[in-house]
Amino acid sequence: MCGIVGYIGNKEALPVLLEGLKDLEYRGYDSAGVAVLHDGKIERIREVGKVEMLAKKIKNKTKEVRLPYKGVLGIAHTRWATHGGVSEKNAHPHTAGAGKLALVHNGIIENYRELKEKLNESLESETDTEILAKWIFKNYQNVGRGDLFQAVRSALLSVRGTYGLVVIHADHPGELVAARMGSPLVIGLGDSEYYLASDITPILPYTKKVSFLEDGEVAKISREGFEVFNLKDEEISKSVIKIDWDVEKAQKGGFENFMLKEIFDQPTVFEDAIRGRMDIGGGTGKLGGLNMSLEEMRQVKRIILIACGTASHACMCAKYAFEKLSGLPIDVDVSSEFRYREPIVDRHTLVFAVSQSGETIDTVMALREAKKRGAVARGIVNVVGSTIAREAGAGTYIHAGPELAVASTKAFTNMVAVLLLYALEFGRLHGVDLETGQKILEEFLKIPAKMNRILKNSNDIKTIAEKYKNNSDFLFIGRGINYPVALEGSLKLKEISYIHSEAYPAGEMKHGAIALLSSDFPVFAIMTKNELYEKIKSNVEEVRARKSKVIIIATEGDAEAKELCDDVIYVPKTMELLEPLLNTIPLQLFAYHTAVALGRDVDRPRNLAKSVTVE
Ligand code: F6R
Repeated sequence: MCGIVGYIGNKEALPVLLEGLKDLEYRGYDSAGVAVLHDGKIERIREVGKVEMLAKKIKNKTKEVRLPYKGVLGIAHTRWATHGGVSEKNAHPHTAGAGKLALVHNGIIENYRELKEKLNESLESETDTEILAKWIFKNYQNVGRGDLFQAVRSALLSVRGTYGLVVIHADHPGELVAARMGSPLVIGLGDSEYYLASDITPILPYTKKVSFLEDGEVAKISREGFEVFNLKDEEISKSVIKIDWDVEKAQKGGFENFMLKEIFDQPTVFEDAIRGRMDIGGGTGKLGGLNMSLEEMRQVKRIILIACGTASHACMCAKYAFEKLSGLPIDVDVSSEFRYREPIVDRHTLVFAVSQSGETIDTVMALREAKKRGAVARGIVNVVGSTIAREAGAGTYIHAGPELAVASTKAFTNMVAVLLLYALEFGRLHGVDLETGQKILEEFLKIPAKMNRILKNSNDIKTIAEKYKNNSDFLFIGRGINYPVALEGSLKLKEISYIHSEAYPAGEMKHGAIALLSSDFPVFAIMTKNELYEKIKSNVEEVRARKSKVIIIATEGDAEAKELCDDVIYVPKTMELLEPLLNTIPLQLFAYHTAVALGRDVDRPRNLAKSVTVE
């Protein structure tokens, strides 16, 4: 996820900016850059790779061309690529007006194509951000010289998408303009100096006094103070608060560790995954990454999803949606198995390689195998520019942002989201009617609020986790689309708490696993109200008859569920195909709280690596 730093004051800006970028390194990035205003000119420098390399480049340049990079006003950025590959020319800051204006930006400009057409200018990069810089500069010329703030405000009136942005202009040595829509920005208040950043980490070494920008606000910051307006140009009175976090806590957004932060990130990053990717009018998904014409899509006769671990569970959830909506045969294959079989694929087979890191060697090799055998291959990946993203040639980013805890959480929900949109796209081609398509999309839009409702129960789930933490075995059961949810809940528990756990399709339990059950073998049942509700209820009865303790995930309002179990966790009702987006969250929280109660290193569980690059 990109990071922003800005400074205006009386000391040299460059060291503040570089230190700030280092404080933001934890967010993950692929390139970095700074722009400092000095002597009426903006000096900009960018580099692919670490902030360290940028600092080295600045040092060399200072000697070579005697650019001092001095100045008391500047902006800086770490980029996590979204539009356009990882390269120096795509790194921020971007400039406009022959270097007069410089801008850093986090987020995605949805209508960048529309703005590009209006601009009709040649561009240096492949980014939506450069278009935004040029668009603001055009507005600067139109609203009249001398008002940078009004130029930014008026430009943003015709921008759709998300942004946290900061702008400087060579003719405005005493001014920073910042704006926020969906991407955080915070102002740090010093003594005749102001800091700006995408989170408070870079600000904390200098001041504890901060003011958070809200969506739709534009700030005008000088050494004398700052003023904030909405897009209608009405002044907003802002409060200043005192933060007493240390840097580590700030990086974790105030949470105890990255895993909990990432679980709580889910409503926000889910919105990032679906934004601009739904055609509500047409009742379908709108994922450019498939890069296929409708005719080519019709030629697809079979779909295979290849992935490992949590990613493979996301694929299993999607299989139900693809089958139900598209009627196409669909297989989910664990990558390490796919690559060593003789998989039957041809040019009518579409293979999606699904991976958070984009570097998992088994999935990389399986993707190569699929391509070698003539399949049409696409990637569904989180890390931009990763091996799978590059080798697949085309595909879709899940936009979960950096996932730093080893155990995958938010990547799972975003993989499910993207795969469901693909399932809907194929579904609409194969007979799903407009009304059904629209209903699914309308329900999609309600998911973030419903996720938030579940997250509010984190403390109740903690109480349940503490009650069961000393059990040495667990069984997770689910049916239909909730079977992969059970698999995911079981994987989360075993990998971070080290408690042995298994997951079974509930109907399969009586064919063997039921022999394990006893009063010290608790069972987690995912029993939400869907077509298979009565069936799984019978399975829960079978469990109770063996004296196992039962924890149930049930739909809000289901009083019967409470009668059937020892502990119940309620989740909001949603459409069956979307249930994994909600039902997985309590299981993530259960695993998390159990691991914490047992004193485990939640973010770095033993024997595991975030990116598995060995076979
Ligand atoms: C589980 C987990 C792993 C990964 C698996 C695939 O919490 O993180 O099971 O899901 O190693 O990783 P990616 O998605 O990076 O290919």
